[in-house]
Amino acid sequence: MTVAGERPLTTLGRRAFWDRDVYRAELTRVFRTTWLFVGLESEIPTPGDYVTRPMAEDRVIVVRDEEGVVRVLLNTCRHRGAQLCSADAGNTSHFRCSYHGWTYNNAGDLRGVPEMREVYGKDFDRGEHGLLGPPKVDTFHGLIFASWNPEAPPLVDYLGDAAWYLEAIFGRADQNLEIMGPPSRNMVGTNWKVGAENYVGDGYHLSTTHQIPIRMGVFGDPRAMDDIENRRADPFHCVVAGNGHGVRVQQIPMEYPRPTFVGYPEQLWPEFERNLDTDQRDLMTGLAVMHGNIFPNFSFIEVLQMPWGGAAAAPTAYTHIRLWSPLDVDRTEMLAWGLVPPGSPPEYRAAARKALIRTNHVSGSFDVDDLQNWTSMAEANAGVTAQTDVFNYAGGADLEPASYRGWPGRVYGVDHSEVNQRHMYETWAELMDWDPSLGRVRDATEGE
Ligand code: FES
Ligand code: FE
Repeated sequence: MTVAGERPLTTLGRRAFWDRDVYRAELTRVFRTTWLFVGLESEIPTPGDYVTRPMAEDRVIVVRDEEGVVRVLLNTCRHRGAQLCSADAGNTSHFRCSYHGWTYNNAGDLRGVPEMREVYGKDFDRGEHGLLGPPKVDTFHGLIFASWNPEAPPLVDYLGDAAWYLEAIFGRADQNLEIMGPPSRNMVGTNWKVGAENYVGDGYHLSTTHQIPIRMGVFGDPRAMDDIENRRADPFHCVVAGNGHGVRVQQIPMEYPRPTFVGYPEQLWPEFERNLDTDQRDLMTGLAVMHGNIFPNFSFIEVLQMPWGGAAAAPTAYTHIRLWSPLDVDRTEMLAWGLVPPGSPPEYRAAARKALIRTNHVSGSFDVDDLQNWTSMAEANAGVTAQTDVFNYAGGADLEPASYRGWPGRVYGVDHSEVNQRHMYETWAELMDWDPSLGRVRDATEGE
């Protein structure tokens, strides 16, 4: 594994996270070249429904137009650039600018210009002043992505080997998963890559960072958790999924009860069986937790929570997704959603919501633990001296991948390694034209 043909990326300079020049380069080299998650189809089910979202520092309106087509429109008026839509979500046929009144339909076409003839003359062409937007918009099992890169590969190709794992979660029901409610939005005082790196494959931090909630039993009997944790080489897998994506899978050993389909209600099993292949069915039946990151900044997690009380009590699972959208080198907007299969009964939805809120939610015990560390990293690396150092990403550098059942990607039968993080940063370094020996990006003019 090498960066631009030079040497293995087993270290990464701290400036990659905390130098504002690096951050400015990311906005172009990473966020304008890749596919970015912008929302879910279940957030905008009917024509006119919209949500406003970040694509890095650009703001967009994600809207279903009158024909039912999902559009992604830059949320800035073509006249003088005023913000067009200030709401988080709503339903409208048109967006009217609050400055001079230019009005666009929900497909982004300019339809109304006050005093158009008097001000701009008879040759003014409204067709040339429609809203801007990313040239590529596509969906995968209800997840909406967009890209500013006209040369970006088709979304399903970009997702690569990660698509199979995403499908096991987001494609298992006959219809797209439903949101539990609007996303929570929080400003986090750290670099956007810190959260993405954690979700891409960091099993290493669990027993230190999260030992208190685990010992309190938020995932069930802590004695069973200990037993599973101590068998690190057996039920754990890290999957390098290409294009910077990674997935970490923690399965329940065969001698433990393995709730069918992560404990979802039995009435949902027939449709899950219909929509998943044999290996995906097996993956979801043996699952304790699966999480990953789609490069650059879309993370997902599927979690089983075993109850206290053994087989008599029902387990609960939930699906959680989040977006790490950069606001600055040390500030990240974190959007987070909970999802359930559409056929879930009300009591299961309530249990899943409760399980999410007490763990992987901004008010949950896991986020409280993680955010304490992540914000302290920003503070501890604010100084230029700290930024001269490098981070070690050599964990598991000698490991060889092995084929595992029908699972796609490079599958490593380990947990506490850094194979996924390394892959994420190799992709990042290639896009950034990162020079590891200098610890900075190369300038566009360098070498001329
Ligand atoms: Fe929108 Fe002038 S800035 S109409
Ligand atoms: Fe964590």
